[in-house]
Amino acid sequence: MIRESAPAKIILFGEHAVVHGQPAIALPFPALRAHVSISESATELEFRSVDGSLLAAPHLPKKSDPLLLQMLLTVLRRLRIVAPEISVLLYSEIPQACGFGSGAAIATALTRALARHAGRPISAAEVNDIVFETESIFHGTPSGIDNTVIVHERALCFTRGTDPLPVQIDQSFQLLVADSGDRCATHIPVSAVRERLQLHPEGTAVILEDIGAIVNKALRVLASGQPLALGTLMYKNHALLGKLGVSSPLLDRLVSAAGSAGAAGAKLSGAGRGGVVIALVKESGSADVALALQDAGAVQIWNTTIQATN
Ligand code: MEV
Repeated sequence: MIRESAPAKIILFGEHAVVHGQPAIALPFPALRAHVSISESATELEFRSVDGSLLAAPHLPKKSDPLLLQMLLTVLRRLRIVAPEISVLLYSEIPQACGFGSGAAIATALTRALARHAGRPISAAEVNDIVFETESIFHGTPSGIDNTVIVHERALCFTRGTDPLPVQIDQSFQLLVADSGDRCATHIPVSAVRERLQLHPEGTAVILEDIGAIVNKALRVLASGQPLALGTLMYKNHALLGKLGVSSPLLDRLVSAAGSAGAAGAKLSGAGRGGVVIALVKESGSADVALALQDAGAVQIWNTTIQATN
């Protein structure tokens, strides 16, 4: 049996602005992973969840989840695999539509597993290219940041149309990742920002540029060994995302609850209108902030350490 997996991701700074050419910083979130395994089967190709339910099968299109069927067909076409007699099993720990890059993680694990099964060596760049194509099915106009950080599984600074740059992190720091429980498909806030840009080009462009400036400051702070100084930048980034119209009353409540409980910074992460909030905490104060997030409505909270790079 062939097994592959890929991590979730979080965006530290710069979501949405990155779609419009600004830089953004993304981190892998390996606490949550999508796992794919492949075994031989005597029947036609089927893509199932571990509980046995059918996710997608090219010979049963009506019984398939349309997006997962598209993903499967895209990966098979790109790998030039024709009518394989295999059973593909998916077990994903990553909640969907909440900013973790679930679709990109599934597509990454699927591409690697199918390539290995076909005995076809595949570079990270090619996996990234294939997963980007599948992302376009889900999101219409992705920037490419989600697939890139998930495929490379390292902290990076991403600007559309250029090679991703490794991010230097001089001192490790702690983040709480709080799930608001609200779900919103990525393409909805992404389209809303695009519409805003069309309706109010100048005002929106200023917001996007201000977010880009925050990203550049954050890169310097990350390299400075004073990670708690990221906090102010996180609050500013969240406020700008609110101005873009991609926050929500619940996300704002979570951010301010984290702040009142002593978080150095907090912001929504990912496309917004639901999904997760990240809060920068000191080891000593993390329990208070976690409790405050829970009281404010978070349905699940992960405590993660972002390690310094060498
Ligand atoms: C989604 O994780 C990040 C967005 O900036 C969309 C994208 O970059 O494709 C909202």
